[in-house]
Amino acid sequence: MTANYMNKRIIDSFGRQHSYLRISLTDRCNLRCFYCMPEDGVKLIDKPNIMTMEEIVAISKTFADLGVDTIRLTGGEPLIRKDFEELVRELARLGVSLKLTTNGILLDRFFDLFREIGLNNVNISLDSLDKARSVFINKRDYFDRIIANIHKAIDLKMNVKLNIVLIKGVNDSEIPDFIDFTRNKNITVKFIEFMPFKGNHWDWGKGVSRDNVISTVESHFGTIIPLPNPKHSTSLNYKVYGHAGSFGIISTITHPFCSECNRIRLTADGKMKYCLFANAETDLLTPYRNGRSIDEIIHEAIQLKKFSRDGMVDKMEPEHYEQNRTMNSIGG
Ligand code: GTP
Ligand code: 5AD
Ligand code: SF4
Repeated sequence: MTANYMNKRIIDSFGRQHSYLRISLTDRCNLRCFYCMPEDGVKLIDKPNIMTMEEIVAISKTFADLGVDTIRLTGGEPLIRKDFEELVRELARLGVSLKLTTNGILLDRFFDLFREIGLNNVNISLDSLDKARSVFINKRDYFDRIIANIHKAIDLKMNVKLNIVLIKGVNDSEIPDFIDFTRNKNITVKFIEFMPFKGNHWDWGKGVSRDNVISTVESHFGTIIPLPNPKHSTSLNYKVYGHAGSFGIISTITHPFCSECNRIRLTADGKMKYCLFANAETDLLTPYRNGRSIDEIIHEAIQLKKFSRDGMVDKMEPEHYEQNRTMNSIGG
């Protein structure tokens, strides 16, 4: 490694500093949501190619030394890793802000741990408040456990955000029900525009736009109050007057929010992705296993980052996104 890369911040060619790392701990999942996991089966990463706990911690430490101050753990489903507890204890020692995105099924096993290490931000996928519909979307029946764990997390005063991928004719009729969920609970519900990844049969005809969400909420609840949006926020945030909680909209398709992007991803097999939609991947695990320093590799890779959606400026292009990974191995 050339010394000038050491401790140098990860800044792309547009001057954006990257301080937020999303690590996919595994591509395996205990659900099979159709918008994420291709229905015709998916090739999973071979076990020897999955980063070990020590490798995740060491690579994360490098990122932290390069200015990453936030790490969000994703999957597949991160909580199914056998060494999850030990791993987060180690990551917590890095002094970064640790956050989690989960489907919620196994959350109750870890509440004590999270309190102990100060992991308070948890985003939970919940696409429907209706059991039958939820089972239809998830292709597995864990609805009661997920709901119970969401309530426990709220009772424990964790910062809970619910992720709802809106699909027309499937769950869009529930927008008012989700808003109702925020009436007495201090949580955020995030409505997400359906995004294209390899094999998920995306078609914007199935998507629900940000404008559509806003007009639906206004027509049911009256005027909505815009909330401040932190600089690197992926969502536009609002509140219904008098509600304890709030809602956000993640509008990657109709209103991309890339200009302040500060995010990098690391897949479970140790590939860095500089954008959610980037087809190019940079292997960090092999050089790490070969004893090479990865600082310089990270800095060179970030220079290739495009301004928005990996170059899909005007529209999402199948020739492009079908070359990406399946969503279960990107982690969102
Ligand atoms: P915060 O850390 O609370 O901002 O979480 P988040 O909403 O960014 O992350 P979460 O894991 O809950 O993902 C919610 C949705 O946002 C998923 O559909 C992700 O794919 C999407 N998302 C997360 N990061 C990005 C990003 O950098 N770009 C785009 N376009 N979408 C993202
Ligand atoms: N489009 C938008 N969001 C998605 N997620 C998974 N697949 C998609 C998709 N095709 C979201 C889920 C999960 C988060 C990590 O990514 O809501 O909570
Ligand atoms: Fe960043 Fe890519 Fe997401 Fe845009 S689409 S916000 S550039 S990760």
